[in-house]
Amino acid sequence: MSFTVAIDGPAAAGKGTISKGVAAHFGFAHLDTGLLYRAVGRRTLEGMEPIAAAEALTAEELQQGDLRTAEIAQAASKVAVIPEVRAALVDFQRAFARRDSGAVLDGRDIGTVICPEAEAKLFVTASAEVRAERRYLELSAKGDDVTREQVLADVRERDARDAERSTAPMKPAEDAVLLDTSDLSVEEALAQAITLIAERKPATP
Ligand code: CDP
Repeated sequence: MSFTVAIDGPAAAGKGTISKGVAAHFGFAHLDTGLLYRAVGRRTLEGMEPIAAAEALTAEELQQGDLRTAEIAQAASKVAVIPEVRAALVDFQRAFARRDSGAVLDGRDIGTVICPEAEAKLFVTASAEVRAERRYLELSAKGDDVTREQVLADVRERDARDAERSTAPMKPAEDAVLLDTSDLSVEEALAQAITLIAERKPATP
């Protein structure tokens, strides 16, 4: 029986960390849907046209190179406003969500557009300053040359673009539970997410 967990929220809110922890806890597969848009964004930085890049995207591309750079994040949020780019990525996400073993998908529009029937929906957020600090530490730890100011500006710019676009804007689904992680440790945030999801999961015989 399929069970889908939708985890949405703004840039660097901790969706990835929580999603990985939730997937490991319940034995679900995890798809970071941001990687799809990042892979398309990378193609456009290489000169490819965004809709063609989205239509030609392969699962292998998601594993190649480092998609988690600040430059690719910006390119991702620019291609993500294009309705045809989003449409080209829908089937892959829905097929992933429907697998029998259970799935966690994280992104911006999972609970609203991709999986409106998801059994559990979380909207993970935190203040822009807290999110930027976490992302700054993550990027500088792997040697990316960024400043705190640049990362905060990037987070704010992407949030605005993601929330204001007309197709599948970032917003909590009406039935999503809000999880503000500003004052929570990773362990606390994960524990709260697991509790919320477990409440929606039928007991296994
Ligand atoms: O990790 P972070 O939260 O910074 O970003 P991400 O989840 O990797 O997403 C990168 C960009 O892809 C976002 O800023 C969005 O513009 C776009 N995206 C989207 O539009 N819809 C999704 N389901 C996932 C990402």
